[in-house]
Amino acid sequence: MQNETQNNLPLLQLKDLSIGIHEKGQTYTAVDSISYNVYPGEILGVVGESGCGKTVTNLAIMGLLPDVLFVKGGEILYRTGDGPDSPVIDLAKCGPDVRRNLNGSAMSIIYQEPMTSLNPLMKVGKQAGEALRIHQKLPAEEIHKRVLEAFEDVGLPDPEGSARKYPHQLSGGQRQRVMIAMATLLNPRLLIADEPTTALDVTIQAQVLALLKRINREKNTAIIFISHDLAVIRQICDRVIVMYAGKIAETGTTSDILERPVHPYTSGLIASIPKASAKGQNLANIPGHVPSTQEQRLPCPFANRCVFAALRCRTAAPKEYKLSDTHTCSCHYAVSFAAEYRNQDRR
Ligand SMILES: Nc1ncnc2c1ncn2[C@@H]1O[C@H](COP(=O)(O)OP(=O)(O)OP(=O)(O)O)[C@@H](O)[C@H]1O
Ligand code: SF4
Ligand SMILES: [Mg+2]
Repeated sequence: MQNETQNNLPLLQLKDLSIGIHEKGQTYTAVDSISYNVYPGEILGVVGESGCGKTVTNLAIMGLLPDVLFVKGGEILYRTGDGPDSPVIDLAKCGPDVRRNLNGSAMSIIYQEPMTSLNPLMKVGKQAGEALRIHQKLPAEEIHKRVLEAFEDVGLPDPEGSARKYPHQLSGGQRQRVMIAMATLLNPRLLIADEPTTALDVTIQAQVLALLKRINREKNTAIIFISHDLAVIRQICDRVIVMYAGKIAETGTTSDILERPVHPYTSGLIASIPKASAKGQNLANIPGHVPSTQEQRLPCPFANRCVFAALRCRTAAPKEYKLSDTHTCSCHYAVSFAAEYRNQDRR
């Protein structure tokens, strides 16, 4: 398992990344100065309720922000190789040519509902071959062979027959497998999976998770795995970032976050399992809602919902406290909460 203490170089470094929204002549903040690293070969979970900024952060990494959203500040540093001398590119500022070379081959993204990203008018075999046509300019027979191998690899039944089908002729689970095959055909170093199993039933969900884990282990692909479902995060992730209202609340190994949560928001998320599994729903154990980007956000954005909130939380933004080599928490009382929880464990 990778963690922050290991002496390996990050594949991706977000440094003080902020994302703004232009709306009706106003500018709002969707993501507010977040920083984190993604290491080669790890599965990094990103959790938080609806509207916390999980998707827009990852769209910024992929250079796919819709027109109203923009990178307001900060850096997204991508290391192009494993060695210390490998060039580093700031994805927040790179031009379209660099992007075209990276997307698909170095990094790719899969979404919750593949129907929104698959072309409904093109057979899936042909669609899957597009990346090979564009990036590797292979002959048609070689592309076809590689696509069938990829379909076989992700467990699509009858790869030859599946390749001849249109997206609507496949089940939801099969479409997600096509997306995963497409996203991994060029062996990207980074795969972003944005709620990839939320639309699937439990059995298919387990199969897709196992598939992602296998790709991660066999190909050393780093995966950013976005989910609002902590039970799923527990199954697949090495480390976890907890986001709240465009900021990072807590980071740690999966066991730091799930077994020893310190931030009151993380504790509330965990206490809400499995009720938190419905996308977009408020959490049963934390009254209130995530402030929208138009609402005024307090220095600690969780202060309106936090049972521990004090005057200080409404007047000063909490800094990030390092609780161990792997665990950080952005709450004014992080150190005393952590000590208190440790004492409770000892009793
Ligand atoms: N195209 C857009 N136009 C205006 N605001 C947007 C747009 N996309 C996202 N936002 C806003 O940015 C904030 C972060 O949204 P984001 O989609 O990243 O949330 P999320 O954490 O992925 O939530 P979910 O769990 O529902 O997918 C939200 O307040 C959202 O309303
Ligand atoms: S800083 Fe204050 S309001 Fe924010 S999570 Fe900590 S105790 Fe709660
Ligand atoms: Mg999202």
